[in-house]
Amino acid sequence: MQYAVLNNGVEMPLLGFGVFQVPDQAECQRSVLEALRVGYRLIDTAAAYQNEQAVGHAIRESGVPRSEVFVTTKLWVEDAGYEKTKRAFDRSMQRLGLDVLDLYLIHQPYGDVHGSWRAMQELLREGRARAIGVSNFHPDRVMDLMVHNEIKPAVNQIETHPFHQQVEAQQFLRESGILHQSWGPFAEGKRDIFKNELLGSIATRHGKTIAQVILRWLLQRGIVSIPKSVRKERIAENFDIFDFELRADEMLIIPSLDTKTSSFFDHRDPKMVKRLGEMKGIT
Ligand SMILES: NC(=O)c1ccc[n+]([C@@H]2O[C@H](COP(=O)([O-])OP(=O)(O)OC[C@H]3O[C@@H](n4cnc5c(N)ncnc54)[C@H](OP(=O)(O)O)[C@@H]3O)[C@@H](O)[C@H]2O)c1
Repeated sequence: MQYAVLNNGVEMPLLGFGVFQVPDQAECQRSVLEALRVGYRLIDTAAAYQNEQAVGHAIRESGVPRSEVFVTTKLWVEDAGYEKTKRAFDRSMQRLGLDVLDLYLIHQPYGDVHGSWRAMQELLREGRARAIGVSNFHPDRVMDLMVHNEIKPAVNQIETHPFHQQVEAQQFLRESGILHQSWGPFAEGKRDIFKNELLGSIATRHGKTIAQVILRWLLQRGIVSIPKSVRKERIAENFDIFDFELRADEMLIIPSLDTKTSSFFDHRDPKMVKRLGEMKGIT
């Protein structure tokens, strides 16, 4: 496994495994167990995914030493604020069955994120979280958090895939010393990504699949990805990206696919701010 070094010196695997939309506990546990068996050492969950318990079970069942597994979970919007964040963290840790978390992220840039961040800075200082960060923050929101707090985020996890390449956000995060992490590396299969002609031609040239080309492209951009799959063969396929390299001309042609817009929704859309802000009782 190759590692990225976060701005506080903590090492994070460059490729991980995500479990969004795997609410079935047995399926989640089986998938994470398979991922750990294949060699993944970063598991990305969230309180809102409602499968932290299954992730914890799988880690223990795997027999992989705790120190070798990097675990990320996230704070949901309804738990934003200083006191609520502390309580939500405790609940997540209880469900995961862990003493120390590797990375705690603010899931969405809504509600009292400054209160949350103060609580998270304390969790970091107390050694209960090894790193803290954000998700779905546009550069202006990241800057606002940095300007008004002592500790800057170690990570920003944002939608990043061939149709939404986040070139400007990446530049901003690099200049700010914040690691760029991709969620939805395959755009969840939208826009027929697995049948894309350009990506297909590159994949054929390397004897690889489109999924592998995408993950390799992200890796070569220095972006950590966390592909999700519940299928054994795909879990293995998505991990098998360390034995080939995309050429400079291939890296230069993939940007032609960039639409510079989300394939899901804009985090600045008032309707979505309202909808996500009103999602209660899920953590
Ligand atoms: N911070 C956030 O707001 C946020 C938002 C979304 C996601 N995330 C994180 O990012 C992770 C990844 O994103 P995602 O789950 O939304 O989407 P994704 O990884 O882009 O795509 C997952 C989809 O692709 C399919 N798939 C996986 N590997 C494949 C392959 N090799 N060939 C063909 N199809 C394949 C999966 O189906 P099967 O499972 O049937 O294989 C699933 O339908 C999540 O699990 C979560 O941890 C974070």
